Amino acid sequence: MEKVIIFDTTLRDGEQAAGASLNLQEKLEIARQLEKLGVDVIEAGFPVTSPGDFEAVSLIAKEIRTPVICVLTHANLEAVDQSWEAVKGAEHPRIHIVLSSSDIHLFYQLRKSRDEILQMSCDTVVHARKYCDDIEFSAMDASRTEPEYIYQMLRAVIEAGATTVNIPDTVGYATPQEFSGLIQGILNNVSNIDRAVVSVHCHDDLGLAVANSLEAIKVGARQVECTINGIGERAGNASLEEIVMALKTRQDFFNLTTNIDTTQIYNTSRLVSELTGFAVQPNKAIVGANAFRHSSGLHIDGVIKMPVTFEIMDPKSVGIPSSNLVLGKTSGRHAFRERLAELGYSLSEENFNRAFQGFKRLADKKKEITDRDIESLIAEELRTVTELYHLDHVEVSCGDHSLPTATVRLIGPDGQSLADAALGTGPVDAVYKAINRIVGISNKLTEFTVKSVSEGIDAIGEVLIRIESDGVTYTGRGAATDIIVASAKAYMNALNRLLAARRVDSNGEGK
Ligand code: KIV
Ligand code: ZN
Repeated sequence: MEKVIIFDTTLRDGEQAAGASLNLQEKLEIARQLEKLGVDVIEAGFPVTSPGDFEAVSLIAKEIRTPVICVLTHANLEAVDQSWEAVKGAEHPRIHIVLSSSDIHLFYQLRKSRDEILQMSCDTVVHARKYCDDIEFSAMDASRTEPEYIYQMLRAVIEAGATTVNIPDTVGYATPQEFSGLIQGILNNVSNIDRAVVSVHCHDDLGLAVANSLEAIKVGARQVECTINGIGERAGNASLEEIVMALKTRQDFFNLTTNIDTTQIYNTSRLVSELTGFAVQPNKAIVGANAFRHSSGLHIDGVIKMPVTFEIMDPKSVGIPSSNLVLGKTSGRHAFRERLAELGYSLSEENFNRAFQGFKRLADKKKEITDRDIESLIAEELRTVTELYHLDHVEVSCGDHSLPTATVRLIGPDGQSLADAALGTGPVDAVYKAINRIVGISNKLTEFTVKSVSEGIDAIGEVLIRIESDGVTYTGRGAATDIIVASAKAYMNALNRLLAARRVDSNGEGK
C-alpha cells in the first residue's frame, strides 16, 4: 500500500497561533512525543524570525534523530544560509523555502512581477541545494494563484532541485473539489512532477482544512502538512489526528497508509494542549472529551450489544485509556507506576519520585484519584520552567462582608524569603497584587480561566492565565485542590516565563 508522508508543523505553524508560546524545553518535549507518534517530518521552526526559534531548531535537530527535521525560510540567500546553520546538525535535515505565488500577494505585498518571483524561487532553491539534498518549496497562496503560473513555477523549482513541492491553501479559501482539481491539474501539467513529492498544506478558515487535504490525497498528493489538535495561524491548520484516523478508518476508500502509531495520538494531543494552553473542545473529532462518549440510551444499548453499531473507531486505537480504575490514599508506588505506564508516561526515577510525592499529597486531600487527576498532577509537578521566584506560602481572607486581603511569601532568586500583603477586588486580585509588590514586573492579565479536572467537590482546579508585557504574551498554568493556590501558582508560572525570556534576551540568546 502506498504511504502518505505526515509532515507535522505544530512547532512552526502551530506555534504561530495567537497566544501560543512555548519555551525551549517544551518544544523539545513536543518534538520527542512527535517522534514517538511516528511523524515523518517535524517542521521545528522558522529560525530567521527569532533567535528563540533558531535555538529550538538547533536543539531539536541535535536531539531528534529519526524524523526529518525541517526549517522554514524566506526565499533569500542569507535567510537560507542562516536557516541551514540552525538545522545542519540534524540526521535528516530539510530546508523549506516559501514564496508567494498569487497575483494578490505579488501586487499588494511583495510588489514584484511574476518573472522576478520565478527567478527568486529558482535562485534560492539552487542555493539551498548546495547545503542539502532535501529541499521543499512552497508556493504561498497557491489556491488563489492562476493555475498556469503555478505549473510554470513548480516546473522551474523542480528543475532547480526542489524535491518536495507544497501547495498551500494559505487563507483557507478553497473548497474540496476545487482544491483536488488544482492538485490534479498540477499532476497532469507539470512535466517533471514525477521528480518531486506533491504536498498540501490547508488552513481551516472555512472549516475545510481536513476535507481539502483528504481530497488532495485522494487524487495523488503524497505529503500532508498538519498540526496536533489543528492548532495554527488564525483558525488553524488541518488536524493531524483527523487526517490520520480518516486514512486508517477508511482504508477501504483511500487504500493508503501512514507511519503513525495511532495509539500515541491521545497523549500527543494532551501534551500539546497542556503546553500551549489551548483547550481541546469537547466535541473535537478523535481527541475531544466527548469523541467516544455515548449519551443517547439507544446508542448505549447498541454499543453494549456490539460496539460497531455506533462506534467507527476503537478508542484504544487512538490511545484513550480504557481503565476506569481509580487510585487513592492506600495506593503505593507500584500501583502508581503501573498507572503512569498505562497512561503512556515514562519518567526518570527522579521525576517519578517527585510525581509520587505530589500524588501522596493529593491523596491526602482527595479520596479518588482519576486518570485526569494524574495527568494534571504530572503536568504540575514536572513543569519545565526555571523558577526565579518560587511560591512558598499564600493565604487569603475574603467573604461578602470583608475586604479581600492576601499575604504571600516567595523564595527569591538568592534564596531569600520575601513576604508582602495586598487588598484586592477579590481574593485572586489581592494575591496577584501582593505578588506584584514583590516581583515588580509590570504586565497586563489578558486571560484567566479556571476549570475542574474531574467531577466532585474535592476536584483539582486547573487555572490557565495569559499575561502580556511589552507586546509579548506569556502563558501560566497551575493546579491545586484550592483554586486560589492554583491561581497563585499559574501567575508565578507566567511571571517566571516572562523573567526567563527577559534573561535570555539580555544574554542575546532569545526572542
Ligand atoms: O500557510 C502557508 O502558506 C504556510 C507556508 C509557509 C507553507 O504556512
Ligand atoms: Zn500555514
